[in-house]
Amino acid sequence: MSQLEIRSVSHWFGGLQALKDVTFDTHDEILGLIGPNGAGKTTLFNVISGFIVPTSGEVRFNGKAIHRLRADQTVRLGLARTFQIVKPFASLTVEENVLVGLGMPYYPTSAALYQRYRTRSNLDQVEQILAKVHLTDYRSAQAAKLPIGLLRRLEIARALATHPKLLLLDEPAAGLVAQEAEELAALVRDLYAQGLHIILIEHNMRFAMNLCHRIVVLAQGEIIAQGNPTEIQNNEKVINAYLGQE
Ligand SMILES: Nc1ncnc2c1ncn2[C@@H]1O[C@H](COP(=O)(O)OP(=O)(O)OP(=O)(O)O)[C@@H](O)[C@H]1O
Ligand SMILES: [Mg+2]
Repeated sequence: MSQLEIRSVSHWFGGLQALKDVTFDTHDEILGLIGPNGAGKTTLFNVISGFIVPTSGEVRFNGKAIHRLRADQTVRLGLARTFQIVKPFASLTVEENVLVGLGMPYYPTSAALYQRYRTRSNLDQVEQILAKVHLTDYRSAQAAKLPIGLLRRLEIARALATHPKLLLLDEPAAGLVAQEAEELAALVRDLYAQGLHIILIEHNMRFAMNLCHRIVVLAQGEIIAQGNPTEIQNNEKVINAYLGQE
């Protein structure tokens, strides 16, 4: 069965149509979502994760309609996301940021309640998550002081704390140097091997093509191609709309 079914999703911001009749399914895979700036990629993530109710169309997750649910409700069903512009709680430590993530399914609007989560068993969970994303050494560092490479991993750690089945990553490799991007690719592969399904938006084509099993290409709100990385790299429409400009 498809995990996520996106059916004829359209979205308008006033007079601007950001998504046009977008339809695709996801399966047990690492799926890439690529396309030029303004193609509608982040808007589609916002629709899937409950930040935006689409103007029309449907989204189903494991058979359940989710396009009218709030973000916290989609989190409880097993959907988690990271943001293109990282959003750590800057004054909190790395560990506290992940504690907020643990509380997210229950207290979505009250990050301040994270102190309630500071129990031994929750701290053990945080410890395991930090080890998974290689942030153990930074546990007590204030988030505001971390460089972008570590903030991107902290975003993933916070998302993992909600125990997702599907993880949406919005440009996880943006701003990373080659070595950091490779480490991140290894982390994403590990997460997939542990049973998570992943959709990632990327402009870093080397990263996306090496990592993704399948790729969906959006341009001006529409799907113009989908296929494996080789098919996408050789697709005329994709080269003209996007890859040719890189
Ligand atoms: N909240 C909003 N209000 C009005 N217009 C918006 C809003 N969010 C996005 N848009 C517009 O919708 C279109 C799609 O934007 P979106 O952010 O989804 O693109 P994207 O593919 O993620 O681009 P990028 O690669 O630059 O991140 C753009 O024209 C953008 O300006
Ligand atoms: Mg975007």
